[in-house]
Amino acid sequence: MDDSSSPIYIDNAATSFPKPPWVAEAMHRLIRDISLSPGRSAHRFSLAASRVIFEARELVAGFFGCPNSSRVVFTSNVTEALNVGIFGLLSPGDHVLTTGMEHNSVMRPLRHLEKTRGITLEILATDSTGAIDSDDIPKRLNAKTRLIIINHVSNVTGTVADLAAIGSRKGGALLMVDAAQSAGVFPLDMEAMSIDFLAFTGHKGLFGPTGTGGFLLRQGIMAQPLTMGGTGSNSEAEEQPQLMPDCFESGTPNTLGIGGLAAGLEFITKIGRETIRHHEDHLTRLLLEGLSQIKGVTVHGPSATANRGSAVSLTMTGRSVADLAFLLDRQHGIMARAGLHCAPAAHRSISTFPQGTLRLSPGFFNTDAEILTVLAALDQISAGS
Ligand SMILES: Cc1ncc(COP(=O)(O)O)c(C=O)c1O
Repeated sequence: MDDSSSPIYIDNAATSFPKPPWVAEAMHRLIRDISLSPGRSAHRFSLAASRVIFEARELVAGFFGCPNSSRVVFTSNVTEALNVGIFGLLSPGDHVLTTGMEHNSVMRPLRHLEKTRGITLEILATDSTGAIDSDDIPKRLNAKTRLIIINHVSNVTGTVADLAAIGSRKGGALLMVDAAQSAGVFPLDMEAMSIDFLAFTGHKGLFGPTGTGGFLLRQGIMAQPLTMGGTGSNSEAEEQPQLMPDCFESGTPNTLGIGGLAAGLEFITKIGRETIRHHEDHLTRLLLEGLSQIKGVTVHGPSATANRGSAVSLTMTGRSVADLAFLLDRQHGIMARAGLHCAPAAHRSISTFPQGTLRLSPGFFNTDAEILTVLAALDQISAGS
């Protein structure tokens, strides 16, 4: 790599980079100006911290079409949010329907409960692009089906699940959505899509810092909390309070991160989610068109350039994916990810297990020129030069 050229980050499915300066500035003001411990004391710093959390909750509720912000719970990432939902909603004997495209944040807790709590797990088959047929769902529901868990947009292939179609076929089951890759980019509306539990992470498409995420739980549904402790509310009781969201938020929260997440949401609102989606779509199309011209490259996942997420998985004849990522980084200054992307089930579904794929995932801050540089680098690697 020529030392004078800037490195290119194309690993936004792992975490978005860069974050908008707006987010860093908001976080800098917060850590400089207030003490960040909300709901514990009555002094002005504590009240200011409570306001930061309350305003973030309101923003998240509005963003995801949830009518009541007290149904928004903050966690440290989507993995924790999904674990709270999976452990907190399932009882022995429950039947769970999920897909062959899930991340280990879903598969590992489910496999654990299959062994230890006697739940039964049924995996909806996908086609070779990772798509499920939502008409399959009603055929597989039974009286014990408690949860349907769906990855909205695949972190491996960019395949999009049709949540509205799934929501209208869920029968008496609850619909849990892993929105790790879609939040901030794709439309997500709890009401319109009949979502009961929406889990999101803060550090990807929402432009917040790592250590942030959460879930939204439909009114009228309750789950067992995973952690208990001080909430700043009902301090006279030695039992965990029942009220939302306190029952799920024990311990001093990540006020700084949550403030950063709120700034990320404000940034998206200012730019417009559609504008972000449009730019990512444009870059993904440019990438896919270029990849189709490179000798030995196979793209795994949807061949269509529209209605897909920006994660693009590929393999190249004669090169391991680890080699590809290494050469891109060391010789061309291009940061991408190789392997199974914490989603072995998805790779089994698209027949790329166990070797995995090289994943390129453009984000809002990538440019056309960067995509062309990535394509030229892959072309060089393919030509063996
Ligand atoms: C679909 C999906 N689910 C879950 C996760 C886990 O996200 P986090 O590490 O923020 O909990 C990711 C992140 O890679 C993901 O892409």
